[in-house]
Amino acid sequence: MVTVTSADEASQRSGEPVKVKPLDLGPIRIPTPVMLSPMAGVTNWPFRLLCREFGPDGLYVAEMVTARALVARNPKAFRLCRFAPEEKVRSLQLYGVDPQIMEQATRMVVEQGWADHIDMNFGCPVPKVTRHGGGSALPWKTDLFQDLVHRVVSVCEPAGIPVTAKIRVGIDQDHLTYMEAGHIAQEEGCAAVTLHARTTAEYYGGHSDWDRISQLVQALSIPVFGNGDIWTAEDAMEMVRQTGCAGVAIGRGCQGRPWIFADIRHALQGSAVREEPDLGHVGRIIARHARLLVDFYDGDEMMAVHDMRKHVAWYLKGFAVGGATRRAFMSCETLDQLDGCIAGLDQEMPYPAGVADKPRGRVRYAKKVRLPYGWLDSRTTTSEERHALFGNDPMDAEY
Ligand SMILES: Cc1cc2nc3c(=O)[nH]c(=O)nc-3n(C[C@H](O)[C@H](O)[C@H](O)COP(=O)(O)O)c2cc1C
Repeated sequence: MVTVTSADEASQRSGEPVKVKPLDLGPIRIPTPVMLSPMAGVTNWPFRLLCREFGPDGLYVAEMVTARALVARNPKAFRLCRFAPEEKVRSLQLYGVDPQIMEQATRMVVEQGWADHIDMNFGCPVPKVTRHGGGSALPWKTDLFQDLVHRVVSVCEPAGIPVTAKIRVGIDQDHLTYMEAGHIAQEEGCAAVTLHARTTAEYYGGHSDWDRISQLVQALSIPVFGNGDIWTAEDAMEMVRQTGCAGVAIGRGCQGRPWIFADIRHALQGSAVREEPDLGHVGRIIARHARLLVDFYDGDEMMAVHDMRKHVAWYLKGFAVGGATRRAFMSCETLDQLDGCIAGLDQEMPYPAGVADKPRGRVRYAKKVRLPYGWLDSRTTTSEERHALFGNDPMDAEY
């Protein structure tokens, strides 16, 4: 499926050569600091495996697991902690607001030997999370942020497990948090930070502000992964060029396009080769993805095929596939039905480059930022605030 482009296109694409150096996260060497950014409902091991097979020797992070669910020994949370044997660096992301619960969950992960690296989620903009002070709302409270990072690092450090933090720029343009959060993360022993350069209010709308990434790179001595709006390998190169970031993290740009990691691998090698799979090849990837998901769901074919629906919509984006075929995919209940739909695709239809490489997935602004009452009044938490927050973790019911 590889398309080798002409010399002209190659020189247009290559621009100034971009170099990224191998990156050490504590004892773990990441030969190519390219990260699959954690995405809930997306970056389970089947999808990570597909990305990893295409991509460089980078970091492929699992979707967030809530600390409280782990501590409660919730089976669905446990499932999210599984890795494929091929995953050499097992990167797990934890979410939590209560430092004690986060510490317990971390201890569990470390004692069970479930991960080689832990990322902490301080980037989630979803109202049901931020209204309880979690995700991207949390770094506003510097004491709580520090406490959480401190406890997780204290458990991980003796076990040689590096900790990283994933943050946003702030809550809105008047309430920025990334500089303090970056410094605290660094002082508390994080091995790196990832900056999604949007505020909570910006949600997924507009464009990630890469200048913020440059500013954080300059301010910190630990590596910064830049994140936001990498839709093509060229975007990844441009982010490194513009910001000097040590690595890049790719989220929505790989939804239905795990081969973007191959493109980035090629680009970093100075090659203009880009993967442009025809529809037949995409169909084979869909079939494989579905089968891996059946394993993920312990043989539950219907769960896997239902889960595939969103992926199929992403895989087919840009291809001239009619509404009836798309609807048929969306009503599949079994692998046989899915295979039937795949067989009915025009196998030779070429890759719709230029359409498929555009923004995909979530792209809107927040309607309103939801925060706990009085959250912005002070940068630290009162004991009443902590009490109210910790009894009320919204993610309890999720997993
Ligand atoms: C569907 C979806 C789920 C996400 N889940 C998580 C998550 O579990 N943890 C996290 O830190 N970020 C999560 N994110 C944010 C992404 O990791 C990433 O920071 C964001 O999409 C911006 O990068 P992009 O422009 O490359 O998509 C999610 C994003 C999307 C679209």
